[in-house]
Order: sequence, then structure tokens, then C-alpha cells
Amino acid sequence: MERKCGCWAVLRRSVSLKGAGCKPSTASNSANSIPRTSLVYDAAAEIRYLNASNREMCAPNEVQTSSDNPPDALPLETKAPRQLLEFSFQELKSATGNFRPDSILGEGGFGYVFKGWIEENGTAPAKPGSGITVAVKSLKPDGLQGHREWVAEVDFLGQLHHPNLVKLIGFCLEDDQRLLVYEFMTRGSLENHLFRRTIPLPWSNRIKIALGAAKGLAFLHRGPKPVIYRDFKTSNILLDSEYNAKLSDFGLAKAGPQGDKTHVSTRVVGTYGYAAPEYVMTGHLTSKSDVFSFGVVLLEILTGRRSMDKKRPSGEQNLVAWARPYLADKRKVYQLVDPRLELNYSLKGVQKVSQLSYNCLSRDPKSRPSMDEVVKVLSPLQDLNDLAILSHHARLSQPGRRKKKPDGSHQVSLNQSRSIRDSPVNASRQRCK
Ligand SMILES: Nc1ncnc2c1ncn2[C@@H]1O[C@H](COP(=O)(O)OP(=O)(O)OP(=O)(O)O)[C@@H](O)[C@H]1O
Ligand SMILES: [Mg+2]
Repeated sequence: MERKCGCWAVLRRSVSLKGAGCKPSTASNSANSIPRTSLVYDAAAEIRYLNASNREMCAPNEVQTSSDNPPDALPLETKAPRQLLEFSFQELKSATGNFRPDSILGEGGFGYVFKGWIEENGTAPAKPGSGITVAVKSLKPDGLQGHREWVAEVDFLGQLHHPNLVKLIGFCLEDDQRLLVYEFMTRGSLENHLFRRTIPLPWSNRIKIALGAAKGLAFLHRGPKPVIYRDFKTSNILLDSEYNAKLSDFGLAKAGPQGDKTHVSTRVVGTYGYAAPEYVMTGHLTSKSDVFSFGVVLLEILTGRRSMDKKRPSGEQNLVAWARPYLADKRKVYQLVDPRLELNYSLKGVQKVSQLSYNCLSRDPKSRPSMDEVVKVLSPLQDLNDLAILSHHARLSQPGRRKKKPDGSHQVSLNQSRSIRDSPVNASRQRCK
């Protein structure tokens, strides 16, 4: 059962990283370094980095409350915390070949992410291609997202273990250097696969990824003390060699409401195009805010379009606003399908995914499904093989259905084909020519 795969671990208030399962420090402790025992609550560092996130969004009613402190109220269901390794800066420098530019895997608001290698048992660097492959994320010296998110990442990911959450192996905290060491995810981010590659991501992989990511969110939301992820988007969904999806980046994650509280009040942070409207307007955060973001990502998976795309005509820049009328009409949903898939998608799958996305994107948070419900809807879609192209061929092979075009080729008479031809996706393409 899914529930057994993941585990929560204890977080004590005023926890030090040592107390959370780190091996004793081997790194030098210079006069400038932050004392390891006060890492989480180092006030000076907090003030320095507090408002540095470039993902903060200005809301009309921005609320700033004490609940914006680092994650000090993680779930108390207990399982042994993972042993986080503490690396020295020199070890990670060697592991990444002196942070070689050609080992850069990507860059985010936090800084560069490098590929590196470490020995299997411990923190020692290994030769490229040997030992364990890791991804090393280094905080920019003037990192906009900063120390605050670094702490949240260590606190949350150091304690949350699940097959659909990326594994944090360790960290480095030395003088002003802050780095994070993760398991290496061979296929990079979903964003890369959906928007940057010429070869389209097959339908079956899209469903597998959506399901994996949904399981990750469902795990976070589950239990009496849920965690709200707050930054669900395609660049934070990483893929292993078999397209298993894992959530990364817990810098904005937050302990959810407890007891009879319905929400937590907080600064509005996240990424434009993904954040739930009620959260942006009020700062009230619930797990249903993540469900909205999931609906946006599902729509990106379905359409191959970005949630926000300034390069598109004005009525199409905001994906949710543009797609909503199509999602609401069963006959029109095929017009939303990523045209690069051609007819290689499941007919029923498209119906179900569209309906699910529509429900997740409901303006009323209470009408959105829970992530457990989302998992239930997506699970059976993996086994569907009613590909549109098969139906297309079946129709063509039926006597009386074959129409020859003047040039001798077969004319497509399928609804789906018509939908694609008439789809707004293609219409806008034609306009762009
Ligand atoms: N564990 C990992 N394994 C492989 N590649 C990774 C890993 N973590 C990150 N990357 C790569 O590095 C890129 C940058 O990641 P990062 O999380 O720093 O920024 P981002 O998600 O693109 O943006 P943001 O800062 O808004 O979260 C990712 O898109 C991915 O391609
Ligand atoms: Mg990220």
C-alpha cells in the first residue's frame, strides 16, 4: 500500500541538523560560519534572507504572519529520520570536478545544479562514472530564494521519505556556502520533456508521470498533520530512468492547518500561472491550493502548453483561462490535446484527464478533489489502450467509410482528427506562420 511506502519523521522544535540525523561535522567551523546547532533558528541569517524569494507574489491582501517561520511543525508520525550526510565544501567541489560548467544540469532561482559522483558509503568524492551519481545544488552567494528555502528543504526532505519525493542525500554548510546533495534523476525535469524537447513525450509516460506526482502530493497531504507543497510545477517534477516522477524543491513547503483550523495564513509565494486564485487573493493556504496547481500541470501535460506563455496571442497566454471552455465541453476536449501526439493518445484517457483537470481547477476550493481521489482517477488510465489512432484505422478499414481524396490518399473522417484540425492549437499555429 502507498501509505507504507512513505514515512514521516519527528521534528523537534529547535532541532539541530545533528539531532535530525546528521553525522558529526567534519567541516571547518570558521568565525563567520553559522553555528551548526542553531542552524534553523539563526535570526541573523533569517533576516538577511527572509524576503529574498524571487517567487514571492504580490497579493492585494498580502498577509505576513508568524506562521511564515521555517517549518517548525512537521508531522509527528514517527519513523526513523534518514541519515543526512554532511559534506565539506571541498568534497563537493571535487565530486563535481570543481563545479565544471559542463556538469551543470540546470539553473533555478536557488542557483546552479551540478552533476557529481560520491563514494557509496560516505561523503568522499568519487571518480566521474563511479560510485553514486548525485545532483549538487549550490545556493548563489546572493541567492534570491536564499537561506530560508535551504533550511526548509533540509527540514522537510530530510524527514519525508516516499518513492515519489526526490531523495535528499545530504548538505553542506560551510561559511557562506550552502549546498544540497540529491539523488541524481536521470531524465531531468518534466518541464524539459514537455517543452524543450523535439520528441514528444508519449501519452503513456504522461499518465505515469501525472500519477507519480499525484501520489507524491497525496502522501504530503495525508494524515493529521499535512504538508502543503506550495510550488507544484513541471520544473519541480523530476524523472528517473523509467519516468517515475519525484517531487523536488521543498523550499516553499509549509505545515498545513491542524485541528479544527481550515487554513494557514501566510505570505503569498509560489509561481505565477500555478497558484490557486483564492490563495493569491487572501493568503489562505490549504491543501486544495496544491490541488489547483496539480490541475494546471495536468493541463500542461494534456496540451503541451505552458501555464503562462507570453509568446502566445493575448487570449491564449494564460493556459487555464484559455482551456476552461474546452474542458467544460466533452465534445471539445480533443481539441486541447498536444498536437505533437498526433493520434497517439487514449480517447477515454483524454476524457478522464480533462474532467479531472477541470475539477482540480474549480474556482471553489471545496469542490476540488483530494489528492487521494486524484490518484484513484488516474490509476486505471495507465492500462487504457484505446488509442485514437487505432480507432482511426478501424474506421478507415470499415467498408463504405473509406473516402478517396482526389489525389488517391484516404480522407480522415474521424471526429478526433477533425478536432485536431480545428483545434485552437493549430489555429494559432497557422496565424503565427
Ligand atoms: N536531483 C536532480 N537530478 C537531476 N537533475 C536535477 C536535479 N535537481 C535539479 N535538476 C535539474 O536542474 C534544474 C534546475 O533545478 P532547480 O530546482 O534549481 O530550479 P527550477 O525548478 O528550474 O526553478 P525554481 O528555482 O523556480 O524551482 C532542473 O530543472 C533539473 O533539470
Ligand atoms: Mg525546482
